[in-house]
Amino acid sequence: MRWLEEPGAVSDDPWARHRPGETACARRSRAAISLSPFRNRSPVPLDPHRSGDPLADRRADYAEAYAKARDFAAAADLMRQALALAPGWTLGRMRLASFLEEAGAREEAGTVYAQVAAGNADDPYGAGLKLAALGLAQAPAAPPPAFVAGLFDQYANGFETQLVERLGYRVPDLLFATLAEVADEPLHFVRALDLGCGTGLMGERLRPVCDRLEGIDLSVGMLEKARSKRLYDTLTECDVLAAGKGHEGSYDCVAAADVLTYLGDLAPVFAHVATLLAPGGLFAFSVEADDEAAGFTLRPSLRYAHAPAELARLLMLAGFEPLLEQRAELRRDRGEPVLGAIIVARRLSHLA
Ligand SMILES: C[S@@+](CC[C@H](N)C(=O)[O-])C[C@H]1O[C@@H](n2cnc3c(N)ncnc32)[C@H](O)[C@@H]1O
Repeated sequence: MRWLEEPGAVSDDPWARHRPGETACARRSRAAISLSPFRNRSPVPLDPHRSGDPLADRRADYAEAYAKARDFAAAADLMRQALALAPGWTLGRMRLASFLEEAGAREEAGTVYAQVAAGNADDPYGAGLKLAALGLAQAPAAPPPAFVAGLFDQYANGFETQLVERLGYRVPDLLFATLAEVADEPLHFVRALDLGCGTGLMGERLRPVCDRLEGIDLSVGMLEKARSKRLYDTLTECDVLAAGKGHEGSYDCVAAADVLTYLGDLAPVFAHVATLLAPGGLFAFSVEADDEAAGFTLRPSLRYAHAPAELARLLMLAGFEPLLEQRAELRRDRGEPVLGAIIVARRLSHLA
């Protein structure tokens, strides 16, 4: 049984209602693309959705059927029985925690997430993040890179239809319009970098105004989609904090469309982008806005929201002059608008 629909999901966004695990496509590409030293992925079992024990799998299938019927207590009970037969099945444990959450057993769910997080150094299923989203641990400064990569690998095929067509995703258009607004002349960049380029939606906007356009992303699946569009001069699998290494001071534009929502503490990101940009270069990005947040907050959607006033302070500390902040609806989620800020800052001549 593949887990296609999570009961009681907190969000329309597949990011928040994923089934952890990797697609065959991502596994194939991983073999072909060398991993950056930044990430250290554990070997992936053939089908992480199955325990390997036929009896345990049968119990797990019954658990899924109960969950579908929204009897989460029975689902948790059956999944516990499955795990008694296959105690090393990590994804089964994640399902148990999610059933417990749905059944209202928050503390018990937290205990299971904590066990999974403790047993997996690179936490590819984001158990630590879920623990924090339950309010049982402090929000981490960033989600585990392996978790982000795995989820967007799974999401890559349906990303554009899901996000643009169903959820009214508008960030690339908003970011491009805001960049055009701060520029004195028609937009033109010599060398631009698209951080978290995904399938290339921001690249589609930037390409006509860039001599050279580079993209980076953690997800091989998303990069494959971007590559097929032939928009970028280079595409690299790496983390935002490893982007542009060896090319410091050479970019006149760095964009991050709906990427910093997957990072909590943005101070290291701002400091890194400041080293990449030439003096006067522009940094354009979006965040989900929460004016009440003390810096950043992790939402039940498992995305982060930031306080724009605090971001302005962090930008100045990192050597930027904030130029423009515009509030906008970034997309919809569960029928509700997701409100955010589009921010453009200019790199000052001297870094702090
Ligand atoms: C919602 S998508 C947005 C993609 C694209 N910028 C767009 O506007 O369509 C977020 C992307 O950011 C990437 N991402 C998230 N955290 C990242 C990180 N720390 N380093 C590099 N890429 C990251 C994800 O893999 C995903 O492709």
